[in-house]
Amino acid sequence: MCSIIGYLGLSTAAPIIVKGLKRMEYRGYDSVGVATFSNNQILVKKGVGNVLEVNKNEKLDELSGTVGIGHTRWATHGEVTNTNAHPHPSSSGEIAIVHNGIIENHEELKKELQQKGYEFKSQTDSEVIANLLQYHYDKVKEIKKALLNTVSELKGNYAFVAVFEDGTLTAARLHEPLIIGIGKDGYFISSDVLGFVEHTDEVIYLDNREFVIINSSGIKIFDFEANPVQHQITKVSKEFADAYKGEYAHFTIKEISEQPTTIPNTANNTRLELDLATDFIKHAKTLYITGSGTSYNAALIAKFLFSKYAKIKIEPIISSEVQFSPDIFEQQSILIALSQSGESADVIEAVTIAKNSGVKIISIVNMMTSSLVQISSIAIGLNCGPEIGVAATKSFTSQLAVLYKMVDKICGGCINLDLSKVSESIQKILSDHSNIQEIARKLKDVSDIYVLGRGIHYPIASEASLKLKELTYIHAEGLPGGELKHGPLALMDSNTYVIMINPNDSTYSDTLTSAREIKVRGAKIIGISDKPSEVYDHWIEIPQVDESVYPFIEIVPVQLLAYYAAIEKDTDPDYPRNLAKSVTVK
Ligand code: G6P
Repeated sequence: MCSIIGYLGLSTAAPIIVKGLKRMEYRGYDSVGVATFSNNQILVKKGVGNVLEVNKNEKLDELSGTVGIGHTRWATHGEVTNTNAHPHPSSSGEIAIVHNGIIENHEELKKELQQKGYEFKSQTDSEVIANLLQYHYDKVKEIKKALLNTVSELKGNYAFVAVFEDGTLTAARLHEPLIIGIGKDGYFISSDVLGFVEHTDEVIYLDNREFVIINSSGIKIFDFEANPVQHQITKVSKEFADAYKGEYAHFTIKEISEQPTTIPNTANNTRLELDLATDFIKHAKTLYITGSGTSYNAALIAKFLFSKYAKIKIEPIISSEVQFSPDIFEQQSILIALSQSGESADVIEAVTIAKNSGVKIISIVNMMTSSLVQISSIAIGLNCGPEIGVAATKSFTSQLAVLYKMVDKICGGCINLDLSKVSESIQKILSDHSNIQEIARKLKDVSDIYVLGRGIHYPIASEASLKLKELTYIHAEGLPGGELKHGPLALMDSNTYVIMINPNDSTYSDTLTSAREIKVRGAKIIGISDKPSEVYDHWIEIPQVDESVYPFIEIVPVQLLAYYAAIEKDTDPDYPRNLAKSVTVK
C-alpha cells in the first residue's frame, strides 16, 4: 500500500528519495516523509499531502546526508496527520523507520515497550517497529542481532527500512515487496523498481523472511534464522523506463491512449504459458476465476466468454470473499487469478486458500516480478507496461485480451479473434475526444450516474461505474438493464444521468426499451452505441465491430469520460483520494 524507499551512497540522499517517492505515489499518497542520517544524527521531515505539496512546504529534498529513508502513506492505523506520517523515530531518536504493511500484534508490543519506558507519539502500528528495534539495539548493541530479535517478535505482513544512528541502512521483508537496487555509487531499497529505476537496472529481489544490512563496507543479506543468503543480481526489463508521462498531462490519459498498442501485444511475452494454460483448463474438473476491483470485472466477462464460446462453466469469486467460503474449491480444479499488480492482498489470500485445497493456479498478471507470479503454477503476462494511474485502464483491456485469446484457443478459433482490428476501432474512438469532453462538462455537478448493460455488457457497466467512482467521486452504479424495473427506477429523476452500454447486438432492443423507461422519468441518457437513437440526450458513437469484441470497444469511451469529468471537477485523475493502486493490506 504505502511506498518505502532507502538510499545509501555517495550522493545526497534526500533528492533521490523524494524523486523515487514521486514515482511510487500510486501506492499511497496521503502523507509523505523523509529521514536522513547527517552529522551523527537522524533528521526527520514529514507532512500531510502528496509528494509535491509536502516537499514544497517542508523542503524534504533539502535534508542533508548521504543515507536516508522515505515513505508515502496510505493510512490504515491512525488518521492522516503529521504525527502519523512516516518516518517514525524511536523514542530516543537513534533509529528511524518507514513501514509498509500491518503489524498485527502492535498493541501488545506497544504496551510492553511503554512499560519499559519507550515513548510513543503516533497512533500507528508502525511506530512499534522503531521502538522494538531500539529496545533490542539498546540491549545487544549489535544491529544484526537487534534485527533478528525484532523480526522474531513482529506478527503480520511487513516490509520496513530503518536507518541507525551510525548511518547503517537496514530493511526486512515478510509478505510485502522489497527490492534492492545496486547502483554505481549507491544502494537503493524500495517497494517497487520504479523507486530507483532511473539510477540502476541491477536489482536483487529479497525473499520473504529476509533482511539486509547496508553500510559503507557493503551489503549483507540474511534470513530470519540468521543464515547469510546469496542472491543473483537480476537486470530489470527496460519497459520500466516507460514510467514517464511524456507529452501527456496525466498517466491516466497516457495509459488510455496506449490501448491500441497494448491490446495486440498482450501475452506476447508468455505465449508458451498461454498454450500450457489452455491445456490445463481443458482438463480441469472445475474452473474458478478471481480478482479484485477492475480485475474482478474482467473475471465477470470471462464467465460469459467461457460459457458462450468454449462451452465451459467458470465460477467468478471476488477475492476478498473467498475466505468466507473456503470449502468451495474441489480437487483437480483450476483457479485463474487476475491481478495487474500481482500484489493485492485479497487475491494472494484467495490463491493461498485455493492452493491449500489442492487447486492449481493460473495467474494473469502485469507485474511479472510480483508475489502472485511466484505462487502460481503458470503465470501469463499482460505485457502492457507499467500502469501508474491508480484507476486501471489498459490493464483491464489486456486482461480481456488474454481471456479472449484463451477462449479462442479452447474453441478452436471460433471467435475469429483479430486484435489488430480491435485496435483500429479503439484508435478511431481515441482520434477525437471532443464529443466526450463536451459530455464530461455536463457531469460536473451531477450527483448520481447509473450505467446499464445487458449480458456481457453488464460487467462493462460495472467497470464503467468503477471508473466514474474512482476518477470523479460521483456516485455511480452498474446495473443489469433488466433489473431497472425491480428497484432502481425509483431513483430516476431529472438530476440523474444514465449511461446505456448499447451496442447493436442481441441486447440492443431490450436495452433501448430500458432507456425509454428511464427517459420518461426525466433522467438524461448517454448512449454508447454504434447505432443512433432519438432517446439518447447524448450519443457516443462506437465503431461497428464483430459482436464478440464489443466489450473492448465500449469501455474506452467511459474511461475517457471519467478522465475528462475528473479534469472538469479538478480532481487528480492519476491519484484519486483515499485509494491506492496496489492494495497490499486486507
Ligand atoms: C485497487 C485499485 C484498483 C484495482 C484493484 C485490484 O483497488 O485501486 O484500480 O482494480 O486494486 O488491483 P490488481 O492489481 O489486483 O488488479
